Parts: sequence; structure tokens; C-alpha cells
Amino acid sequence: MREEKNRPIGVFDSGLGGLTAVKEIGLRLPREEIVYFGDTGRVPYGTRSAQTVCRYALQDMRFLLKEADCKAVVVACGTVSANAMPLLRQSFSVPVIGVIEPAVDAAVAATKNGRIGVIATPSSIASGAYEKTLHEKNSDLQVFCAACALLVPLVENGFTDPEDPIPTLTVQRYLRPLIEADIDTLILGCTHYPLLRPIIARQLPGVTLIDTGVAAAGALGELLSSEDLHRTDTDTCKGRMRFFVSDEPTGFAQAAARFLGTEDGAFPAVERIRIEEY
Ligand code: DGL
Repeated sequence: MREEKNRPIGVFDSGLGGLTAVKEIGLRLPREEIVYFGDTGRVPYGTRSAQTVCRYALQDMRFLLKEADCKAVVVACGTVSANAMPLLRQSFSVPVIGVIEPAVDAAVAATKNGRIGVIATPSSIASGAYEKTLHEKNSDLQVFCAACALLVPLVENGFTDPEDPIPTLTVQRYLRPLIEADIDTLILGCTHYPLLRPIIARQLPGVTLIDTGVAAAGALGELLSSEDLHRTDTDTCKGRMRFFVSDEPTGFAQAAARFLGTEDGAFPAVERIRIEEY
């Protein structure tokens, strides 16, 4: 049996979005082994009820723990982080890192005028989790939220080209009230949104964008240090990554290869699993 610190890190999301966290974990913690699950058969999560999101999240965790024996899990999904963190922490003994707390810490550190915007899925915004966590840090902050139901389907379907008018106009429509509110910091509260970052940044000059995946990767590094869980059984500088999905893997594999890039152009096989069985 592998020593606890040499086991993989689990990362999951409803689809492609969590790869924004995987990319950052790979850069910051290159020796770690990562096992990723994208629930492509049931994406999107962000327009579903909290009960359904919780049920899916329990299955995603059980898969990662049963099949990969992960030492820690990053919930690289704003929607699950907003709706299911207490349940996941109660239900499993491994450390579970969500994206909200780390993103909120980064936003609070970045803002100068105390006016923070949050864009996220309808389910994340309805939960009130971002607003509540921001106000727990500083009750004087002014928080402006926008639920952006159309952005995840755009990303999942590859509509991310900064020159494409479809994502550009959609993002423009969602951001208008936040621009009018004079925010100086915007939390990209869904892990899919960094794939639209060039489009968002162009419409918000001078506004600091907080990427939840990046913030969560930072929190993971701190956790591994404080719990003495950094991997030690490898002297190669690069850990392995394994990818699992719950629907046809081809589209995911192509998008993941494009997004994560690999030095030799090769990308590990993406395996399909039956998540309903967990
Ligand atoms: N990427 C996820 C999030 O951060 C889920 C998006 C979705 O499936 O709707 O919220």
C-alpha cells in the first residue's frame, strides 16, 4: 500500500472547467500525481438544484477515493463548492479544498475600493456562498453578483475565441451591471470562466480578475505543506496525470490537450467511467 503522502490528488468538476485548476496545480506542484474526473455526462451542474449538485458531488468524491485512493481532493467546481462543502467534509475523512474560500481571500487582498464583482453559475449565485464568505471577511465590502447561465455551455462547446462575437456579446451583457457598479475586482466564480478570460479582461480594463482554479491550487500547496503531504517517492520532476469522464471521451481529450498542452504533443488516454455506480 502506498504511503499517504505518495498517493494522488483528486480533482473534479462537471466538465472541462476544472482543468484550469489542474493546469495551475501542475505548475505549482509538478511532482504530484493528479487524477481528474470531469462529469461530462451530467454537465452543466450550475443550473441544477442544490440537492442534485450534492448527490453528484458525493458520487464524484466516492469515485476518486475508491478508484484512486486520493490523499486530498480539490473541488474544482464553484457550483459544488457553493452547495456541498459541509456535506463533503462531513462525509469523507480526506482533506477537501473548495474554490470559494481561496478566491475570496485573493479578492479581499486585491480590492482597493471595496467593490467586488462575482460572476458564477445560477446555482452558485443562488446559494449566496460567495457573498456570505466575502462579508465574513469584511462586512464593509460591496458585492455585486451576476448569474451567467450561458457561459458554461459556450465553453463546453468551444465558443472561446476572443474574436467570436457570440461569446463576446454574451459576456458583455452579463458584465454590464458590474461595470456600472464600478467594481475594481472580479471573481471568476466558475472554473470554466478562465477559458473566456481574454474576452472578460478586454471588457474590464483595470479590473483585477481572480481565477478560482489558481486560488485553489495555492490553497492546496499550503495544505500539503502544513499536513506534510508533499509527494516524496519520485525524483522525476513531473508527476503523472490521469483523466476520467462520464461520457464520450474524444471531445474532452481534444479540448484538454489544447488547454493543458504537453511538451511532446502527446496526451494521456481519457477513460470513460459509469459514475452512476458510485
Ligand atoms: N465549472 C463549474 C463551476 O465552477 C460547473 C459549471 C457547470 O457545470 O454549470 O461552477
